[in-house]
Amino acid sequence: MREELLEKIIMETVDIPSLPQVAMKVLHLMNDDYSSINELEKIIANDQAFSTRILRIANSPYYGRGRSIDTISTAIILVGFNTMKNLVVAASLKDIHRKFGLFEQKLWEHSLGVSIAAPILAAETKMVVPEEAMVAGLIHDVGKTVLNNSVPDKYSLVIEKVYEEGAAFMEVENEMLGFNHCNVGGLIARKWKIPKNLETVIEYHHAETFPDFEDNNYEALCQIVQIADAMCLGLGIGMERNITPADIGIDRIGLSEKKFDELKEKVQKIYTEQRSKLLE
Ligand SMILES: [Fe+2]
Ligand SMILES: [Fe+2]
Repeated sequence: MREELLEKIIMETVDIPSLPQVAMKVLHLMNDDYSSINELEKIIANDQAFSTRILRIANSPYYGRGRSIDTISTAIILVGFNTMKNLVVAASLKDIHRKFGLFEQKLWEHSLGVSIAAPILAAETKMVVPEEAMVAGLIHDVGKTVLNNSVPDKYSLVIEKVYEEGAAFMEVENEMLGFNHCNVGGLIARKWKIPKNLETVIEYHHAETFPDFEDNNYEALCQIVQIADAMCLGLGIGMERNITPADIGIDRIGLSEKKFDELKEKVQKIYTEQRSKLLE
């Protein structure tokens, strides 16, 4: 009941955007056991901008693939069906951003940072597939984007308070709106029917304890994104907060402080390179 009430309040306040048509079609088709790679390729290739975006994401430099992926069918064969669904969602994100001011810039930098840190942590710990971690990092804070688009006046007060008091978004959102970006994100993810692993990360990336998920992998993915998120805040990528490795709980994923610092340095380096490349 509590959840239904929360949904009702959110729906009354927040205008939920829709996922681009092409993404909906592709996700729908991919859930059908009989869909073929050819069919998928046809639909995606029909939308030039969309397919370019997918290939750009699939060719992110940190997976260390020896070859570049230049067609959608190669991408599907190399990354697999499930990861491809994630890439389709990632490629849709750009359409959800409506305006681009200082906060959007910082949020974009933060998401880029987490999308770099998460696969690096995933590769190190072998807890989840790096591509999955990458997309999860990119999309984890989509609830913030939607809140900022939908209730800009209220949300700018939230942002102001977060910056002034150095508080966490979750706390200030709960206090000022009665719900937070994870609640909103979860609702959006269900409405969009995006893959369950991404829905779980969007909804639980700030949770301290986790319910029993239908797939064990989901909790690992949440842990990786939480630690990547904290790492980026610590580095001051996009947004900044003072967090020590002990606060982060890096031992949850079996990392020593020394290893964590090493990976942190790597993330900073790749972030700086990527950021300037993307802004070229
Ligand atoms: Fe968040
Ligand atoms: Fe975040």
